[in-house]
Amino acid sequence: MTQFPIKEFEQIRTPFYYYDLNLLQKTLEEINKYSAKENYHVHYAIKANANSEILRIIKEAGLGIDCVSGGEVQTALNAGFEPSKIVFAGVGKSDWEIELGLDNNISCFNVESSAELDVIQEIAEAKGKTANVALRVNPNVDAHTHHYITTGLAENKFGISLELLDKVIERCITSPNINLQGLHFHIGSQITINEPFKHLCGKINDIQKYYESQGIKFDSINVGGGLGIDYDNPDANPIPDFKSYFETFDTHLKLRDGQQLHFELGRSVVGQCGSLITKVLYVKEGLKKKFAIVDAGFTELIRPALYEAHHLIENISNQDEATDVYDVVGPICESSDRFGEEEKLPITKRGDLLALRSAGAYGEIMASQYNCRQLPKSYFNTNL
Ligand code: LLP
Repeated sequence: MTQFPIKEFEQIRTPFYYYDLNLLQKTLEEINKYSAKENYHVHYAIKANANSEILRIIKEAGLGIDCVSGGEVQTALNAGFEPSKIVFAGVGKSDWEIELGLDNNISCFNVESSAELDVIQEIAEAKGKTANVALRVNPNVDAHTHHYITTGLAENKFGISLELLDKVIERCITSPNINLQGLHFHIGSQITINEPFKHLCGKINDIQKYYESQGIKFDSINVGGGLGIDYDNPDANPIPDFKSYFETFDTHLKLRDGQQLHFELGRSVVGQCGSLITKVLYVKEGLKKKFAIVDAGFTELIRPALYEAHHLIENISNQDEATDVYDVVGPICESSDRFGEEEKLPITKRGDLLALRSAGAYGEIMASQYNCRQLPKSYFNTNL
């Protein structure tokens, strides 16, 4: 079990997020080590966590940014990321968001429909600018992940169906203020086997071959994100297997001469470095169950309620041998406000601190103020 600075934690108001920046640093070193090819570009998907300290470290490591809103573009710019390393995706970009991207000369818009392309053309023309775009293709690849976080299947709202791609490419070519840079893909999130990525490579190879026969070449391919983390064993697997992830693309994706390859990794970069620390308020004895009622709820970590996800729960105040079984629930007035059912924990009592592990991605950033709760603070191993 990870050693947490429990004495320091006891002085802090709970709940709070705790980040191990050494682990983040090591994770980034691994990413850089295995993606060191000159034509590989890793963009951090800022949607996973936009904490300023985390962004600072990611920027220092040299990654670019993948955004899905004007707010994210602005946050990335404020954090000092170079516009030339920012890509901007999303099915519903507002006019002001497109303007923001153009005004700041971001490197690429990942375009999801013909209708969006027309609006970008119109706005770019009015500004006398050229917009670099990549078309997001829906490759119909099953990511074998939770249905809420799979995005590459045919019936999904994301991307352009292969059947319609010819027309949209044609439209790019005839739009004077559009520069078609390449194709973009993203098949889903929390993918823990390489098979779906291999499958994606095969699809991309076929698509490239087809367009080459039409005389169309792309400068860049963007394969999105999606690499998962080990939620069950964060201590055994604190850093995802970036070696085999990048090797899958090295081996199976046939890039053309000079072609650039972009990645958009979110969860795998920041997931394991964060924990949500919460205090046990009461142990409530029910008829058949014991409830450990904690002071964090789905307002601080929504993944269990929203995706039926499970985060490892540890009692970090008490590591006694004697255990009992608890449902670990939050204080929000909704039955879905539950972190775990029948969790085997050391005998747990009021005042104990629990760590909800692997909360670095889609934890703090998805926090809400439902029930008029305050957004929690974040702390780092470096300032405790
Ligand atoms: N690129 C695009 C176009 C995306 O839509 C996403 C995530 C990513 C990259 C980054 O994916 P990652 O490497 O983090 O898997 N809130 C959910 C996850 C939603 C992911 C949405 N798109 C969760 O907590 O599981």
